[in-house]
Amino acid sequence: MTGEESLERLSTGIPEIDRMLQGGIPKGFTVAVVGEPGTGKTIFCIHFIGAGLSSGGKGIYVTTEESRESIVRQASMFGIDFREAINEGRLVVIDALMGVRGDPWSLYELDVEELVSKIIEAKKYLGYGHARLVVDSMSAFWLDKPAMARKYSYMVKRRLAKWDLTIILTSQYAVTSSLGFGFGVEHVADGIIRFRKAVIDGELRRYLVIEKMRQTDHDKRVYRIDIVDGKGMVVLGPARYSRGDFSLPPSVLRKMIEAEIKKLSEIPNTDIDGEGS
Ligand SMILES: Nc1ncnc2c1ncn2[C@@H]1O[C@H](COP(=O)(O)OP(=O)(O)OP(=O)(O)O)[C@@H](O)[C@H]1O
Ligand SMILES: [Mg+2]
Repeated sequence: MTGEESLERLSTGIPEIDRMLQGGIPKGFTVAVVGEPGTGKTIFCIHFIGAGLSSGGKGIYVTTEESRESIVRQASMFGIDFREAINEGRLVVIDALMGVRGDPWSLYELDVEELVSKIIEAKKYLGYGHARLVVDSMSAFWLDKPAMARKYSYMVKRRLAKWDLTIILTSQYAVTSSLGFGFGVEHVADGIIRFRKAVIDGELRRYLVIEKMRQTDHDKRVYRIDIVDGKGMVVLGPARYSRGDFSLPPSVLRKMIEAEIKKLSEIPNTDIDGEGS
């Protein structure tokens, strides 16, 4: 670290992921967290906000697919007290699902302008200083107009640039057409963390890979992760079953894995993932 300008890094709340990132996410970055449904994006975001709160910081969590109650409950399952932080005025959970009248922290329309205004309002409410921001997910804002994904993502990044935030934008990457879907956030992001899932040996397995993090000599390996009750996201170790295929569309990946399983099932007692038993 000689001759470098020091770069403040924020803990993700998951020690192994911090290590993979040379200490954490650089302060002020906008990071895309992408992956298919159920891969762990929301849980990762909860840890990120939780880590900020436990170090005395502030947070804003925009939730579009789950209610505020659901997010608070999910956090409490991992020992992270969002309720208390809300009551202390250190956390704002903006609910874009329920749209409850009279709730100042509800978003009535899935409109990017309204989103940005609400985030700025929340930042002013939290007061002076840095805050962590999660928008989970951005995909909700371009559901009926996927071609707008990149423009909207850029708009959010640009309009929030001067508000002293470190930002995670999630996106439910899924290949639904030849155009692809879910890109947008990735193009404007300073970092990309991708979550993946695969069924191997009749078991759902989750993986994580850091695809990009500016100014960081990050770990390039695919890691197997798990979500544990009472604890949250845990990193199990590098996945030995990795050959660059984690950037392939899920359907192609699935076919490759199926072929691999078929091949290996003919050899007795073969653990194709390696790090399991
Ligand atoms: N208390 C818990 N103990 C163990 N596993 C849990 C617990 N709570 C949630 N999970 C696991 O986490 C998964 C949900 O992860 P998460 O909500 O982070 O996914 P996601 O990537 O945000 O999905 P989506 O795109 O649909 O929002 C559940 O399907 C379940 O497997
Ligand atoms: Mg989610």
